[in-house]
Amino acid sequence: MKEIVSPARDTESDNSTYVLPRVTPTMRMRRLRAKAPLRAMVRETHLRVEQLIYPFFIVEGTNIKKPISSMPGIHQQSIDEMLKEADEAVQLGLTAVLLFGIPSSKDSQASGAWSDNGIVQRATRELKKRYPDLLVIADTCLCEYMDHGHCGLVHDGKILNDPSLEILARSAVSQAAAGADIIAPSDMMDGRIAAIRAALDANGFENIPIMAYSAKFSSGLYGPFREAAESAPQFGDRNSYQMDPANGREALREVLLDIEEGADIVMIKPALPYLDVISQTRELTKLPIAAYNVSGEYSMVKAAAANGWIDEKRVVMECLTGIVRAGADMIITYHAKDVAQWLK
Ligand code: PBG
Ligand code: ZN
Repeated sequence: MKEIVSPARDTESDNSTYVLPRVTPTMRMRRLRAKAPLRAMVRETHLRVEQLIYPFFIVEGTNIKKPISSMPGIHQQSIDEMLKEADEAVQLGLTAVLLFGIPSSKDSQASGAWSDNGIVQRATRELKKRYPDLLVIADTCLCEYMDHGHCGLVHDGKILNDPSLEILARSAVSQAAAGADIIAPSDMMDGRIAAIRAALDANGFENIPIMAYSAKFSSGLYGPFREAAESAPQFGDRNSYQMDPANGREALREVLLDIEEGADIVMIKPALPYLDVISQTRELTKLPIAAYNVSGEYSMVKAAAANGWIDEKRVVMECLTGIVRAGADMIITYHAKDVAQWLK
């Protein structure tokens, strides 16, 4: 029997040797890793272009394409420019976009959110005219349209819950009327899924699904988005409506509530720090799960890649594959165009 003897240490004080028992593994995991086609054959998770949702930030005007400094490659753009980028997205094989609107004026009733002539409503009509088969998902929230930047109505420095439901519902109905294929409420008011479902049904949109931002955490990773959407709260923070990042069980309660209220798809947001929540949601429900790979997650990868510290393609594919492995069926991501290209 051969003995494996570790090399003697090179310090004078320590001249000991270690005699290790000989070990012969019976199961060699490396057998299936030896050849590329074999690795491909046993690969468990596949990212597909159909799973990707690409966000747009739309502003009033024409000919506007303004880079967002903290999100390289992403722009605020007018409808005409957005249509050009939609051409590109469709060419790449992307099948779904998510619309955020930045109105030219904000007020205390978020009127831009529910006006039939609102920026998202107009963008939706133009997109559906040009691409009837492209899935247009409308983010339903009030923060971009409120002068105070909160996701609900405000009175005496407090964010009101129940009065906000009515304008959220009105906003969802006007988005559906403009042709949105999916309504995605991101406000985190209690009862909004039921309110929006009832309003959609009452207006003949019973076939329009709701993608609920069910477990939306109060996250530092939304920072770049607030520059993009010009939606930073003007006082306080969002802690009275968005979730505490420490709370996994509470996230599952949010998911269950949204399902009871009629959600068709549930969303976990952000994605990477909350993969446990995604996988527990996968155990909890048979509903499709969306994950939002948010602006800060994107910016961190872009910044590290720009510095030459990481291989961008490799890291993006690893992150998104991890989100799917955790249990997500679809991913909202600013990397969508790049990934679509890489998957070709
Ligand atoms: C607002 C909203 C936010 C995001 C989507 N909708 C930010 C917030 O709550 O302030 C974040 C998306 C991202 O960071 O990419 N309702
Ligand atoms: Zn909001």
